[in-house]
Amino acid sequence: MINSLSSTSTSLAFAFMGFGKASILLLVSLLLSSSLVAIYAGNLHRDLDITWGDGRAKILNNDELLTLSLDMASGSGFQSKREYLFGKIDMQIKLVPGNSAGTVTAYYLSSQGPSHDEIDFEFLGNLSGDPYIVHTNVYSHGKRNREQQFYIWFDPTKDFHTYSILWNPRHIIFYVDGTPIREFKNAESNGVPFPKSQPMRLYGSIWNADDWATRGGLVKTDWTKAPFTASFRNFRADACVWSSGASSCASSSSKNNTWMSQEMDSTSQKRLRWVQRNFMVYNYCTDFKRFPQGLPPECTINSAA
Ligand SMILES: *[C@@H]1O[C@H](CO)[C@@H](O)[C@H](O)[C@H]1NC(C)=O
Repeated sequence: MINSLSSTSTSLAFAFMGFGKASILLLVSLLLSSSLVAIYAGNLHRDLDITWGDGRAKILNNDELLTLSLDMASGSGFQSKREYLFGKIDMQIKLVPGNSAGTVTAYYLSSQGPSHDEIDFEFLGNLSGDPYIVHTNVYSHGKRNREQQFYIWFDPTKDFHTYSILWNPRHIIFYVDGTPIREFKNAESNGVPFPKSQPMRLYGSIWNADDWATRGGLVKTDWTKAPFTASFRNFRADACVWSSGASSCASSSSKNNTWMSQEMDSTSQKRLRWVQRNFMVYNYCTDFKRFPQGLPPECTINSAA
């Protein structure tokens, strides 16, 4: 809804087919005119604000690329201009290359206030060649402690990959390149609050967490390798935008929010099981030592496949 860039370029491509030479020339000159060029530039300034880091966060390449850096003095971060209440959020991220041990790059949705909701992706750095960990968590009404961690099936520092959060009233799904890695189902019927009434903003940041991030804090940040830089691009929010107490999805012009009722089909369920079997590092729902009085109530509904 917010970003119709890909459909615009597709229809432009179709428009080219079947045009005569003169019209192509006309289109080319139109393309060069500033209004159309603007379509092809990024939209990061429109959608995101750099919020901290004193120059360590930058929007570059004609508004297409956002970089966050960390050095010994500070990390950096950004947040979305808008707040959302349900949505499908995509971002392409290229993580800190080389020795990133001790660093955490975070990409998450969060509401405000003491009993806040939060949906987290955190990327825990590692020594060169050792695997990153993708750490996920879901807070509802301030209740946390719902971690699941995964290795990834590629090197996330070589290229950009798409990390997505689907958040609708039925569930929250974390995706890596379209493959679901975690599903957190609405377990209100088991008495577990579900994030559904507090609007959330998107945040991104990089910071030093060498007291816990890498091998539980054993490996410290090597500051001779600073600055550590992670890159973000192609932010896209197909979402219900919240403003002045109203949702953009309440209006009739937003009927095609298919993500609002998106379920996991059998292919997605297979992919999810594949990830959980082969790449899961930690699951709070199987940590009986941590919960000697019994696993949290949502674990029966969200049982790892
Ligand atoms: C870092 O690499 C070590 C050794 O392969 C591994 O045990 C650990 O899970 C990796 N990730 C983090 C974040 O510590």
